Amino acid sequence: DGFPASKLFSQGYSYTYDDVIFLPHYIDFPTDAVSLATNLSRNVRLSIPCVASPMDTVSEAHMAAAMAALGGIAFVHSNCSATQQASIIRSAKSLRVPIAPTVGFVGPDAAGGFGPADGKYVFVTESGTLPSRMLGYIAKSDWEDLQDKDVKIFDYMRDCKTVENVPWNYDLGEIEAVLEDRKSDFVVLERDGEVVNVVTKDDLERLKGYPKLGVGTVGSDGEWMVGAAIGTRDSDKERLKHLVKAGVNVVVIDSSQGNSIYQIEMIKYIKKTYPELDVIGGNVVTVYQAENLIKAGVDGLRVGMGSGSICTTQEVCAVGRGQATAVYKVSSIASKYGVPVIADGGISNSGHIVKALTLGASTVMMGSFLAGSTEAPGAYEYQNCCRVKKYRGMGSLEAMTKGSDARYLGDTAKLKIAQGVVGAVADKGSVLKFIPYTMQAVKQGFQDLGASSLHSAHELLYSSTLRLEVRTGAAQVEGGVHGLVSYEKKYF
Ligand code: XMP
Repeated sequence: DGFPASKLFSQGYSYTYDDVIFLPHYIDFPTDAVSLATNLSRNVRLSIPCVASPMDTVSEAHMAAAMAALGGIAFVHSNCSATQQASIIRSAKSLRVPIAPTVGFVGPDAAGGFGPADGKYVFVTESGTLPSRMLGYIAKSDWEDLQDKDVKIFDYMRDCKTVENVPWNYDLGEIEAVLEDRKSDFVVLERDGEVVNVVTKDDLERLKGYPKLGVGTVGSDGEWMVGAAIGTRDSDKERLKHLVKAGVNVVVIDSSQGNSIYQIEMIKYIKKTYPELDVIGGNVVTVYQAENLIKAGVDGLRVGMGSGSICTTQEVCAVGRGQATAVYKVSSIASKYGVPVIADGGISNSGHIVKALTLGASTVMMGSFLAGSTEAPGAYEYQNCCRVKKYRGMGSLEAMTKGSDARYLGDTAKLKIAQGVVGAVADKGSVLKFIPYTMQAVKQGFQDLGASSLHSAHELLYSSTLRLEVRTGAAQVEGGVHGLVSYEKKYF
């Protein structure tokens, strides 16, 4: 019944996740027996198969800490200077309690009122952000009287001397005890003289309502593992020095078409200079591309070209591949060499994650799925009464103007051509809440397929035990909610 993947994907069609559907198999274990532990790359082990994309509206310090705390990992984007990228990595590693702050941060010269995202307090730091030396803070209640006056926050803030900081590596229990002890509303966490986070009583209460965190992704230094993106220029060798010094645990060479002499030389350089560091190559979508990077020595492959929600590469360049086909084809060759595959882009629900993993990937990399979270960089805004966060392609004109044109090999061209768009995604709350629910849904999918782990899913795939079919347009409509006058889409 149905088709084995080897047959379905060799008929000249480019399929994406929604085109295909798995046939259910046989269940002989409970959902909780499913393990989603996996490898990101040859030497980096994760307890969940989730990876945050190196995009400047997705992965900075708070996303990196939260993803590692969940057992996944994030790649810090490189659309900033090498020192800024290194500082984001250091900062992520300092966020032992992975709560994204719900208070605002400004520099001493700031004027004007509270923004909608500032919470109950605004903290004044030397740099206007974290980590930095703390100068003072102001409570919303103090500030409201001054809102319309043209005053500087620095002149009205409360002195920080009244606040006793605690060490950065305090755990939740210790933080709670301090809050209780001091009858304080917030606690300031400090490392090497700089404030790394502020946790309020409300944050703690919220966190208590989230699912319990499992096994985090911790490196040999005892800190969160953090990945980073780099390019293929000589300046990226210099950048890498900074990142290694900051403690980066794995790097991805960020390119939309990874099968290039530039990338192959960079892979060889990194493997020679930093033999301990795992290098992920890509992006690739064909067996030929994958084999070239495997021969060059990659420890992992990133798969996808034009499948991302903000991508226009296929429209602009006429090159790419449907993501289901790309993941299956690359995984089938990579698995022979023991190289894990990251299915990158096009994930918009838990079913897509099940499909990516059962088609051979070891992890999924996500942009839009994570961009509306509390942990993503940027402030929430309102659009048509909806709370949203900005999400943009790294090949959008806006992002390239800030420096990401290297990913699209636009460095020598005088005319910049966009391969991505700028948009917004809905507020999704914290990844600490919705990723565990998503993983539970993925486990249920695995159970339906009779796979109790990624390893067993891949065995079922390559032994042709798993069967799948293409869905017609009508079957896809039928597979979604249909025929209702109205409904609310809520999964948890
Ligand atoms: P999702 O679907 O998760 O996709 O939002 C994220 C992935 O999209 C890729 N990416 C781009 N691709 N133009 C592209 O063609 C772009 O501007 C762009 N920005 C990101 C990237 O692989 C990311 O992980």
